[in-house]
Amino acid sequence: MEDRIMRVGVMGTLRGGTYVGLFQKLEGSRVTAVCDFNPKSLENISRYLDGSIEVFDNFNDFIDSGLFDAVVLCNYFMEHVPFAVKAMERGIHVLSECTPALTMAECVQLCRTVEKTGCKYMLAENYPFFACNMEMKRRYDSGKFGRALYCEGEYNHPVTPHDKNMLSPGKLHWRNWLPRSYYITHSLAPLLFITGNSLKSVNCKAVFAPGTLKGTACRVGDLAAIMLCEMEDGSLARVTGCAAWGGHGNWYRICGEKGSMENVRGTLGQVRIQYNGWNVPEGESEVQVVDARWYEDEAMNELSRGAGHGGGDYWVAYHFRKYIMEDEEPFFTVYRSVSMSAAAILALRSSYNGGCEYKIPDFTNEEERKKWENDTESPFPDENGNADMPCCSHPDYEPTAEDYANAEREWREAGLC
Ligand SMILES: NC(=O)c1ccc[n+]([C@@H]2O[C@H](COP(=O)([O-])OP(=O)(O)OC[C@H]3O[C@@H](n4cnc5c(N)ncnc54)[C@H](O)[C@@H]3O)[C@@H](O)[C@H]2O)c1
Repeated sequence: MEDRIMRVGVMGTLRGGTYVGLFQKLEGSRVTAVCDFNPKSLENISRYLDGSIEVFDNFNDFIDSGLFDAVVLCNYFMEHVPFAVKAMERGIHVLSECTPALTMAECVQLCRTVEKTGCKYMLAENYPFFACNMEMKRRYDSGKFGRALYCEGEYNHPVTPHDKNMLSPGKLHWRNWLPRSYYITHSLAPLLFITGNSLKSVNCKAVFAPGTLKGTACRVGDLAAIMLCEMEDGSLARVTGCAAWGGHGNWYRICGEKGSMENVRGTLGQVRIQYNGWNVPEGESEVQVVDARWYEDEAMNELSRGAGHGGGDYWVAYHFRKYIMEDEEPFFTVYRSVSMSAAAILALRSSYNGGCEYKIPDFTNEEERKKWENDTESPFPDENGNADMPCCSHPDYEPTAEDYANAEREWREAGLC
């Protein structure tokens, strides 16, 4: 690649606007093209459009432009795989926003495409890169906590009905059909990253409480998907998917054989550590609260200060460039990424099948993949509003006529639909 500069194309310019800014600033990368068919979304990045970035409104022209070596997929949640496959078939590396894949068949297809094309795929999962999670990872890797036996991951992001409508313009917008388990990566990925564990099975029960969604077109009456994940080593993790109960925040907890740690509730910058009184490691105290750092090295630690999502967005861009230009493999390879999608998909099935357990396939194993290659069931609707499977634990739940009317009025007033 020319002068060791990674040329980046960004698809979708709402969330994608963050990556336009990051890759323009990151040493050794520059954004050469963007694609969005909605002029309103392009306004989000108008300050970068000084002629040096080509603008496309059509993915096929964008991906065939020859203007970039790597693409960042920030398009609709349920359409990442078709675009990732098209990109890799043209030799273009992929950084994909969550979710990695929508169906079990897509999980298989994504792995096979990476293997067939030799392209690099990384998930743009930013929450493992909060300072608290990087601090916990360093401490976990030191071995002082012993093996993790039980972990918890909460991602709780309630919004007002008005904000929900602004984020989900249109009856068929993906955010109106998003099963709580499908937004799994922000609660689960940090736990896998810290412990290095891999998933073995999942079961799930949803919290059905549609009361706070009045006045929206949201088809999902669940406010959380409580998933119990078993890891390959027999340890357990409890995660929420995207929950929406009262009190916004993220919380991660690692319970080990000799001690436990968690971010102090309400902060991403402090970690509370507690060891058993009889095996406090030398130089540590039984209970302590420490300021979290992304890296111990001060120069590294400063790099992401001020970046979005607790600095996590910066580290996604940083590690993607490292992968493409220096071949440094990130934690969330295609196999680990799709295993989280599989957990999300099977958890939804579990939630309306009495909480039964599903085994998560090993996506490095072609024999196991074969069993799922034709499982294309999706809870997201086609253009007529029909879906293969329910998106809610209560399959008959639907907003009322008044809810839809209010959402439609708000979209009209905001010029969104
Ligand atoms: N990791 C995070 O912290 C984080 C935060 C926000 C969003 N996201 C993810 O980013 C993705 C995008 O979400 P969003 O918030 O930007 O909202 P969104 O999905 O409503 O916006 C997607 C944008 O892509 C454009 N787009 C979609 N399909 C296109 C196509 N075929 N051709 C051209 N343009 C197209 C749309 O016009 C829109 O501007 C989702 O997958 C979401 O999960 C991640």
